[in-house]
Amino acid sequence: MSKKTFGPQPLLFPMPAVLVGVTIEGKANFMTAAWCGITAYKPPSLMIGIHKERYTLQGIKPNGAFSVNVASVEQVKMVDYCGIYSGTKKDKSRVFKIFHGTLKEAPLIEECPVNLECQVKHIVDMESHIVVLGKIMETHVSESCLAEGKADTKKIDPLIFSFPDGQYWRMGEPIGRAFQLGKEK
Ligand SMILES: Cc1cc2nc3c(=O)[nH]c(=O)nc-3n(C[C@H](O)[C@H](O)[C@H](O)COP(=O)(O)O)c2cc1C
Repeated sequence: MSKKTFGPQPLLFPMPAVLVGVTIEGKANFMTAAWCGITAYKPPSLMIGIHKERYTLQGIKPNGAFSVNVASVEQVKMVDYCGIYSGTKKDKSRVFKIFHGTLKEAPLIEECPVNLECQVKHIVDMESHIVVLGKIMETHVSESCLAEGKADTKKIDPLIFSFPDGQYWRMGEPIGRAFQLGKEK
């Protein structure tokens, strides 16, 4: 088998394209993040890799709270907007309709089908980025994205990002059930 090496690269497929919500000086701010992933089930937790220069960090550290809003394909232009412009230059508090859950400093986006309210548990310095580990305190799912009472992936139509081509994607078709197909091998 022939392989080419590229040195250390952050090459994982796919990445989500979520919107991280914080409150800075009383105002909501949203940042696009692809470096976001689940870290534990008990308690349900996740991580985000945030570059040290991001304005968003100014909301995470003092409040100890943030939101992760799962965008759908429909919101791609707004997601890209929040990934191009910093809250230091543009007021991103008016881009979306905002609501609040239990964590008052974690603004949630009405248009996004899934909203996770997170409490900061750990902050880890990884040189270029700060890794924020958050405990998921509450989960909101749009009623229109439920099927048989559960979050429905197809209806959510989550926005996906890939590196190094820098493209947004939509999910394809399901190909089989996990923890099942392996039994047929
Ligand atoms: C698709 C996409 C994914 C991004 N992922 C991240 C990320 O995971 N971490 C990060 O620090 N910045 C990421 N960025 C860049 C920030 O979203 C961007 O710098 C934004 O303006 C920061 O907003 P703020 O300064 O208001 O916090 C991403 C941008 C795009 C377009």
